[in-house]
Amino acid sequence: MIDSATSKLESLRKVTLSLLDSQHPAYSLRPEVVEMTTILTNSGTILSTHKKDISDGETQTSNGLALSPTMAAMCAGDFVRTIEFIRGTYAAIADMRKRFPDRPAQILYVGCGPYATLAVPLMSVFSPAEATFTLLDIHLEAIDSAQSIVETLGLSNCVANFETVDASSYQVCRYRPPDVILMEIMQTCLESEPQVAITRHLLKQAPNAILIPEEVSIELTLVDPSHEFDLNELEQNSCTIQRDRIPVSSIFIVNRETVSSWKNIDSNRLPASTVKIPNYTEQRYQPMLFTKILVYQNHILKEYDSGLTCPRVLSIEGTIKPGNTIQFYYELGSHPQLKNETLLIWPN
Ligand SMILES: C[S@@+](CC[C@H](N)C(=O)[O-])C[C@H]1O[C@@H](n2cnc3c(N)ncnc32)[C@H](O)[C@@H]1O
Repeated sequence: MIDSATSKLESLRKVTLSLLDSQHPAYSLRPEVVEMTTILTNSGTILSTHKKDISDGETQTSNGLALSPTMAAMCAGDFVRTIEFIRGTYAAIADMRKRFPDRPAQILYVGCGPYATLAVPLMSVFSPAEATFTLLDIHLEAIDSAQSIVETLGLSNCVANFETVDASSYQVCRYRPPDVILMEIMQTCLESEPQVAITRHLLKQAPNAILIPEEVSIELTLVDPSHEFDLNELEQNSCTIQRDRIPVSSIFIVNRETVSSWKNIDSNRLPASTVKIPNYTEQRYQPMLFTKILVYQNHILKEYDSGLTCPRVLSIEGTIKPGNTIQFYYELGSHPQLKNETLLIWPN
């Protein structure tokens, strides 16, 4: 008789292979993500469900908010995000395998949360000789849960270490730096959570690692809200919305190059673009910030694909007028966020 751990692992492997099958667009695979999450939930010690508030157990760090284990577990349900991150990480590991076929690729998964959602499925399709993972989270409850899932599924050989630590003080092994650094510790517009600070801290120590996501960018666009949403069309699953947008400028980009360009900055202020607002009809358009996530290669999350890429209305002190020049910057610290100030440009 096949024991239950073996059959759970086999089910996980099967559903992971479906998630990785690029014949199927990510948006069509919600039931598969639900199935995957159910397998993870039913393996190992389960998070306490008696929390009064889903934010119970969150930690405010000096670099941003660490979501509670309950909220981190819920991130799996942002299913297109979950699939694109799993697909991108799979592709990065496959690339590392080609570069170093004689040893396993080492993946450092930062902020793994209680299900290690973006890694455990991949452990079911890569052997320990192909890929080994370090699972890291600031919350002990998350690491205890991830460890119990890994052990229940018989995947302990795929995990090099479990680390309960604030990633912004984590030191990678100098002799065996990670090949892939995987983390999704962000919200739309890179607000609140410490993705930027931790990316800087880790990439400095492992400059050759593949970074996942490879790039997060924020763009300013003028949007006509009356053409942006049509609930009837959305309900009918139709793709006929004729959006009316005027792209203005890229505002802030986090990738290997920009992180390296900030290496001598000690202050909490990282540079972003200075933008002159073009002439536009103020009654018709609204300035909005669009977040785009390049997970890896062709695995991309664009507007509305995920909670992480929902456009935000640009919040600005005072009013924004055509012709204004706005200077953006990214403020690090306990409440990281993109900020701006209007520059006074005197006419010649
Ligand atoms: C948005 S959740 C993502 C959970 C899971 N990785 C996923 O993608 O579904 C972010 C996770 O990062 C962890 N985290 C946040 N800040 C951290 C820090 N400074 N050091 C280590 N973990 C952190 C949180 O505890 C939480 O589990």
